[in-house]
Amino acid sequence: MSLLVAASPKDCSKQGLRFPKLNKKLLYTLSSLLISLLSLIFLLWLTLHPSKPEFYLKDTAVYQLALAPAPRLLNSTIQTTIVSRNPNSRVGIYYDRLRTYAAYKGQQITADAVLPPFYQGHQDVNVLSTALSGTAMPVAPSFGYEVGRDQTAGKMYLDLRLDGQLRWKVGSWVSGSYRVDVDCVAVIVLRPGADSGPMSLVQGAQCSTTV
Ligand SMILES: *[C@@H]1O[C@H](CO)[C@@H](O)[C@H](O)[C@H]1NC(C)=O
Repeated sequence: MSLLVAASPKDCSKQGLRFPKLNKKLLYTLSSLLISLLSLIFLLWLTLHPSKPEFYLKDTAVYQLALAPAPRLLNSTIQTTIVSRNPNSRVGIYYDRLRTYAAYKGQQITADAVLPPFYQGHQDVNVLSTALSGTAMPVAPSFGYEVGRDQTAGKMYLDLRLDGQLRWKVGSWVSGSYRVDVDCVAVIVLRPGADSGPMSLVQGAQCSTTV
């Protein structure tokens, strides 16, 4: 009887040990699978890691910058060409909800110009040409004084801004949306008394891009 009693707990413990062993093996297999999957993703990310798109200001022409004195309302007409380049050889870029506008001393001076969404292939270059205009835009009291001072100096700094969203495309996979902000500073050389053509024109300027 004592033998029987001794045998039964032994059996129980043997059976009880078998399950954790199986679980451990399963756990080990699963975790090593997960680790190799994670390292594969990391390797893919390392090799494909997209560089942010490059932008530069090709030209900017100011045709009109007229300020009404009493309620300070500004009319402006600015033509700008921004060139965009995708530096990635394996990653494409979808641009959505792009808008561009001009700002002077942190103040928006034209209405938003909405650009159509587009796809930029591997190492593609796209030219974004927009006519920006503002009609009776309210400006800060200092605006007239600042522009007057710049006119005396013969040049003014104008910000051409572009923002929107982008999605990366790798093979047939498309990422989620990321915000993109582009800021280009144009140094406008003023030509007072110019009868025809733009009041001022500037060529070439690098833009800062944040994604
Ligand atoms: C701005 O444009 C509006 C509408 O065309 C016009 O009525 C106004 O006189 C213009 N203002 C200036 C300062 O040119």
